[in-house]
Amino acid sequence: MGIWKIEETEEFFKGNVPQHRDVTHPHKRLQHLAGRFLLQFLFPDFPYGLIQIADTRKPFLPGEEYHFSISHCGDFAAAIVSRNSRVGIDIEIPAEKIIRVQDKFLSAAEKEIFLPEPEPAGYTVPTILWSSKEAVFKWYGDGEVDFKKHIRLEKNHKNPGVLHCTFSKTNQQLVIHFQQFNQLVLSWIIN
Ligand SMILES: CC(C)(COP(=O)(O)OP(=O)(O)OC[C@H]1O[C@@H](n2cnc3c(N)ncnc32)[C@H](O)[C@@H]1OP(=O)(O)O)[C@@H](O)C(=O)NCCC(=O)NCCS
Repeated sequence: MGIWKIEETEEFFKGNVPQHRDVTHPHKRLQHLAGRFLLQFLFPDFPYGLIQIADTRKPFLPGEEYHFSISHCGDFAAAIVSRNSRVGIDIEIPAEKIIRVQDKFLSAAEKEIFLPEPEPAGYTVPTILWSSKEAVFKWYGDGEVDFKKHIRLEKNHKNPGVLHCTFSKTNQQLVIHFQQFNQLVLSWIIN
């Protein structure tokens, strides 16, 4: 797994990485290229040229030589690559707007567990929960996930850097790891 702070120009990445889809916005294009660049940074023999895009827009390797997942936010790109396990990753910069939409992705039970009243509800915890659910969505990869209905998050009281998750689409228990640093939230799954 790696995180790249984007300080290079587009030319730097274009010299190394093929662009896999049309991205009109220059900064989004830079993020896209940095995410792809990380794959080969992590595994030098990563076969960029074989990447295909599913109907769900998930990028994948047909022979599954590697499983991988990519995320970008602001000036950061993150990627996770595994030879054996399916993976999902999400990186977010916490921002207040998450509070306005939290009822769309959190159930009443999750709000009781993670955002108990009358404690002041900041925006970092909802961002961690959102990011964790995005990581599940990417790990699953087949789209059509109702974040509130299909993904149920629970605390792990022994390990504060881990969330437990029941994913009803595949009837699986997942472990989601998360970390906060430099005002970023990073979540990932290997399963
Ligand atoms: C696809 C999605 C996960 C992208 O998330 P994002 O925060 O916009 O962007 P990120 O930077 O974190 O991730 C983008 C990367 O995810 C990957 N990706 C795109 N679609 C994917 C999918 N269906 N499965 C797995 N990975 C996917 C791609 O690698 C993409 O980067 P790239 O095109 O440059 O390679 C997001 O737009 C989405 O659809 N989320 C689900 C929302 C939802 O269903 N909500 C319902 C409950 S409220």
